[in-house]
Amino acid sequence: MHRYKVPLTVAEIQGDELKNIQIAMEQGMFATSGDYINKFEDLVASYLRNDSCVAALNSGTSCLHMALVMAGIEKGDEVLCQSFTFSASVNPIIYQGAIPVFVDSERDTWNLCPVLLETAIKDRIANGKKPKVMVVVHAYGRPAKMKEILRIVEKYNILLVEDAAAALGSKYFDKTCGTLGDFGVVSFNGNKIITTSAGGVLITKDKKIKKHAVSLATQARELKPHYEYNEVGYNYRMTNIAAAIGVSQMQLLDERLKERKRIYETYKSELGRVAGISFVNEIEEVSSNHWMSCVLCSSKEHREYIRRFLEERGIESRPVWKPLHEQKVYAEYPSYVNGNAKWLFERGLMLPIGPNLTVDDQMFVIDAIKNTRPCSV
Ligand SMILES: Cc1ncc(COP(=O)(O)O)c(C=O)c1O
Repeated sequence: MHRYKVPLTVAEIQGDELKNIQIAMEQGMFATSGDYINKFEDLVASYLRNDSCVAALNSGTSCLHMALVMAGIEKGDEVLCQSFTFSASVNPIIYQGAIPVFVDSERDTWNLCPVLLETAIKDRIANGKKPKVMVVVHAYGRPAKMKEILRIVEKYNILLVEDAAAALGSKYFDKTCGTLGDFGVVSFNGNKIITTSAGGVLITKDKKIKKHAVSLATQARELKPHYEYNEVGYNYRMTNIAAAIGVSQMQLLDERLKERKRIYETYKSELGRVAGISFVNEIEEVSSNHWMSCVLCSSKEHREYIRRFLEERGIESRPVWKPLHEQKVYAEYPSYVNGNAKWLFERGLMLPIGPNLTVDDQMFVIDAIKNTRPCSV
């Protein structure tokens, strides 16, 4: 049971998940091999298109880590990372002993600022070290300015890891998010648009990279009767049980995308004219999966006033990400800052969304916000 009357988001099963789990169990395939893993990978790859090969791993975080391993990131390397994101975008850089270099956002998409990105690259080069990889994020499912970002990373010969953890179903022009960089990552954890309970996929266009990633993710054990290793591996592969859930959830994806869009548009039409509340500008050529419905309040005090007002009525909402360069744990690392991520953090609020949000629940949230008085804060 959830402690909120209206929670932010709750995972829901609707399809054949239990039946698939039972089949996998009856086949004795609980662990990291089995037909559901291959089937899930095929379903995701054909959904993503754009020549994608996908490796199913046990989390989006392990996929990000594996992307850096595949990109050859080693101790002391510099890796650029969007600052306005969840901690999992940066932690794998630190697991590798590399140095994250944070770059701030722009306000159109809330994602990586291309102008600041180029400034950061030039400055790192002037300091004597060219970053090897850039981790860009499609925050809350909204695509980053990929055309500009790709132009810059190609110019400086920097590999691009696309953290599309929350962006399954988002599109940038005619391409699906996660398929535009050298490596892409999608998460299927419990709060995502569809779930495998926990899990993720690493996306590449190179079959050999996929094969290598799968081998490393299964302890790098060689195909020999005895235990033989030529590399240091990881225990990162998705289980057949998780994939069995994923195969069923993939059938729900189109419906979930429609639902999220409807919920977001209802918030926008009902709250768009409320004093002090605004929404991000939508750009015609890109489409967000609306993983989260976020609003911008007029100030930090206004955001906290609304959040507490909702909390008192049993409605869960949450401030958007605090920029990583502002977090104590990452304070020692270099950052290129224009103030936008901080500005967003102070004003942004995520509202309840998800398959279990009824029309009545959403109207309850909307009415509560309409009843707040921004002028008094
Ligand atoms: C932007 C971003 N990157 C990475 C992750 C990590 O994914 P996972 O929870 O599957 O490890 C998340 C998870 O929410 C995320 O939002």
